[in-house]
This record gives sequence, structure tokens and C-alpha cells, in this order.
Amino acid sequence: MRYFLLIFGLAVVLVAAIAGKRGDMTRRTPIEVFPDMDRQLKLRPIEPNGFFENGRSSQPHIAGTIARSTAIRTAAGAVMPYEDSPVNTGYRAGTTNFVELNPMVISAESMKRGQQRYTINCSPCHGQLGDGNGITKKYGMAVVANLHDKRIVQMPDGELFHVISQGRNLMQGYAAQVDVEDRWAIVSYLRALQLARLGSVDDVPEAQRAALTK
Ligand code: HEC
Repeated sequence: MRYFLLIFGLAVVLVAAIAGKRGDMTRRTPIEVFPDMDRQLKLRPIEPNGFFENGRSSQPHIAGTIARSTAIRTAAGAVMPYEDSPVNTGYRAGTTNFVELNPMVISAESMKRGQQRYTINCSPCHGQLGDGNGITKKYGMAVVANLHDKRIVQMPDGELFHVISQGRNLMQGYAAQVDVEDRWAIVSYLRALQLARLGSVDDVPEAQRAALTK
């Protein structure tokens, strides 16, 4: 017991000596336990630095680089990627209701882009026709949705966008691989695929009907 008290007393003195009274100013060099935390090789913004030839830490933009956030052009004007807008979320602003219509400007060019992006990102599973017969079926992925299901045809555009972005059930989201404009382009192309299947001879202009039967 006597030794315990002695050792305990010494321990208290030691702890107080090392940890206590750290607030005093001193001109002596402090003990640095982890010097790499205090002294790091790093660039401080807007301060001179010898690392680059021009002596600056913040380098000017390199020609041709793309800013991380540029405005997205929609049918209703420009929208930034961080805004609560249907373009970014698929929802009507401030609600959790899906937007009915694709907010982008839809052109022949964007449809082509959608076709190309669909072929790359969706057709391996959903098939080139959207009927769920992609190559992955051969390898055992049996539950891929048929995109011509009535339920999916009737989904608002915003919901399709949401499924592509966040995924649903067994399908993963594609927000990380496919950017916002391309996801909407895929939605337009998917609509074209669905329309193509639902269409009838009456949708074809009279003059071109003859070509169909050839
Ligand atoms: C790796 C395979 C795979 C890829 C690639 C894929 N999907 Fe899917 N998708 C699935 C599976 C599996 C389901 C069914 C999910 C479930 O219900 O469990 C599904 C379901 C869906 C649904 C229906 C969701 C619902 O409410 O039932 C839509 C719409 C859809 N996918 C669209 C797309 C689009 C558009 C792309 C391309 C960007 C895409 N998918 C890429 C596997 C895939």
C-alpha cells in the first residue's frame, strides 16, 4: 500500500508536469510529439510557394478545363446543378411529387445522344428494345424490368429520371456515371422506345405507309 501511494503520487506529479499549465507563453521550442502534423508539405492558397515555376500556390485555370458546376440549359432557362429544381431531382420544387414532363429542350440531337447513352448504360440489362432481354439475362440476371410494362409506360418522366439516378429495388443508380443532361436524354429515348412499341399504322403518315409493308 505504501508503494502504491508513492507511485500514485509520482504519477500525479508526472501527469501534472506534462499535461498541466499548457497555456503559458514561452520562447523555448515546444516539444513536438507528432511534428508531421505541425509541419506539413502543403500549399497555402494565395501565398507564395516555390513548388511551381511561377512561384504561386494557386495556379491559373488550364485552357480547356471544365468547371465543376456550369448551368444546365432547360426548356425554362438555365439551372445550376445545386438548385432544388425538377431538372436535378425529378421532383416538382419543394415537393416529393414527380414532374410529369421532361424539363429539357428535346431535339433530334438530344434523342441521338439518349439512344447512344441508353445503348451504353441500359441495354446490357434492359435490352436494345427495352423489353428486359439484355445480354445479362444469359448470365442469370432474370428479374430485369420490361420497360414496356404498362406501369412503367405510365410513370411520369420525373420518376424515370429518379429511377435512373437513384436506382430502385435491385437496380443501382446511375447518377455517378451518367450526368444530368444525359439522364434526361435517356428518358426521352426511353419514351421513343415505348412509343414505337405502342404505335399503330395510323401514326405513320399516309405517304410512307407503303414503305412499311415492303
Ligand atoms: C445491371 C443491370 C441494369 C442496368 C444496366 C439498368 N437496369 Fe434498370 N433495372 C434493372 C433491374 C434488375 C430492375 C428491376 C428492379 C427490381 O424491381 O428489383 C430494373 C428496373 C428498372 C426500371 C423500373 C423500375 C420500377 O419501378 O420497377 C426502370 C424504369 C429502369 N430499370 C430503367 C433503366 C434505365 C433507363 C437504365 C439505363 C440508365 C437502366 N435501367 C439500367 C437492371 C438494370
